Amino acid sequence: MSYFTIDNLVVTFGGLRAVANVSLALGKGEIHGLIGPNGAGKTTLINAVSGLIPHQDGRIVIDGQPVHQMLAHKRAEAGIGRTFQHAETFADQTVITNLVAGGFAHRTSTVLQDVLGTPGKFAAERKAFAEADKMLDIFNLRALRDVPTGDLPFGTLKKIDLARALLAQPRILMLDEPTSGMNSSEAQEVITACKRIAGELGVTLLIIEHNMRVIMGLAQMIHVLDHGEKIAQGTPQEVQRDPLVIEAYLGHGSATHA
Ligand SMILES: Nc1ncnc2c1ncn2[C@@H]1O[C@H](COP(=O)(O)OP(=O)(O)O)[C@@H](O)[C@H]1O
Ligand SMILES: [Mg+2]
Repeated sequence: MSYFTIDNLVVTFGGLRAVANVSLALGKGEIHGLIGPNGAGKTTLINAVSGLIPHQDGRIVIDGQPVHQMLAHKRAEAGIGRTFQHAETFADQTVITNLVAGGFAHRTSTVLQDVLGTPGKFAAERKAFAEADKMLDIFNLRALRDVPTGDLPFGTLKKIDLARALLAQPRILMLDEPTSGMNSSEAQEVITACKRIAGELGVTLLIIEHNMRVIMGLAQMIHVLDHGEKIAQGTPQEVQRDPLVIEAYLGHGSATHA
């Protein structure tokens, strides 16, 4: 049995089946890629799995625990993390404040302590800042600690989004185009971080990535979506020479992505 399974997921927008009976199975600590042309349904799948949008059918199970009927924050507590294609941050807040927000899902103080401002709250806050501070070094963000994120380039926001997602200590982390907008050294930092997150922390990664060189180097298994349907699954080598996959990319006039 796989650690993380998505079974026959269906997401519709009006008459459009943006995700049409898609199934995926990932082992613990594995890195899988999710690829496909623009509009294939990749972001929609992540949105539905994290509970941000409703799904119409299907099951989502982590380590034997069904999560598909939970609200988004409960899924986060159950270990589902994600980053955003557009790297959403609180623009008028500093980098460190944005990072601390990520630790929220596993904070040890209770709501009551929060409200009353009891010592448990301060201890939890100190812990959250200490963990966020460590992330600054891991992602080379130390110099930007107290800068509002609204002033930062997109590639930097993507790193902040990833660091923030990690602070919630996910068991499954879904990354939506993590290297987009990055220069090659930033992209390399993220690639290295992903390998360590999976290899050393045992986090299971599902990575949407349009840069084929990046995903072929990272993922042991790749799932290919087109028009909401899963058209292929295999090792990077297998999907690269799959005629259905080649046709999907050529058919959309985006051969440069393949
Ligand atoms: N909130 C929404 N309402 C209606 N249609 C949507 C919405 N989000 C995405 N879609 C449509 O669903 C399809 C899949 O989109 P998306 O998941 O963003 O694709 P990808 O991430 O693979 O590029 C597209 O046709 C898109 O226009
Ligand atoms: Mg997308």
